[in-house]
Amino acid sequence: MDDALDRLKRELEIFGQQNDRTVTGREGRMLNITRDTGEFLSVLVRATGARDLLEIGTSNGYSTLWLAEAAKVTGGRVTTVEYLESKYRLAAESFAKAGLAQHIELLHADAADILKRTPDASVDFLFLDSDRAEYVAWFADIKRVLRNRGLLVVDNAVSHEQQMMPFIELLQSDAAFTTSLVPVGKGEFLATKAASG
Ligand SMILES: C[S@@+](CC[C@H](N)C(=O)[O-])C[C@H]1O[C@@H](n2cnc3c(N)ncnc32)[C@H](O)[C@@H]1O
Repeated sequence: MDDALDRLKRELEIFGQQNDRTVTGREGRMLNITRDTGEFLSVLVRATGARDLLEIGTSNGYSTLWLAEAAKVTGGRVTTVEYLESKYRLAAESFAKAGLAQHIELLHADAADILKRTPDASVDFLFLDSDRAEYVAWFADIKRVLRNRGLLVVDNAVSHEQQMMPFIELLQSDAAFTTSLVPVGKGEFLATKAASG
């Protein structure tokens, strides 16, 4: 284990929890994944050997650190997208401290544009933790950019079950995907694209 990286993750956890207890506006909140979700993502990336990772919704970079730490082991790289300037800057600070520069590309952009620009079948692992109201509109591109046997992981599947339902139903009713709801953290919805899908 990288002690400095673990200290940084713990600092971000404390900052995120304290910040989100006092700040009410969504834009000012960090809304980080839970530590057990980070551990789960880390296992998934390592077990699947994912190398081309895309994260939609960086915030201050907490979840990215879990993904990038695992991507270092697989020889991969995480592209992570954040459209708010303030959070983009916080994430850039986190990544500068983390020593994972080779394994992270931070984009200050709208996720819809990045999804559109991402080539077909180029992503092994897509972590979706962003604006839930947009997921249905992003579905076609998400499906297009995932490689066969690629894995989509979506946060908040339990904490925001109602908001997530239309997107989850799309995935469940699409024969190209095999899906599972995992009750870790805020609820992780997994969908892997079939080799023939
Ligand atoms: C739940 S937070 C991400 C938390 C982060 N994954 C973590 O666990 O540390 C969602 C983030 O998505 C960003 N976001 C929302 N809509 C976006 C869009 N269309 N393009 C890029 N970023 C977006 C928000 O600004 C916010 O920082």
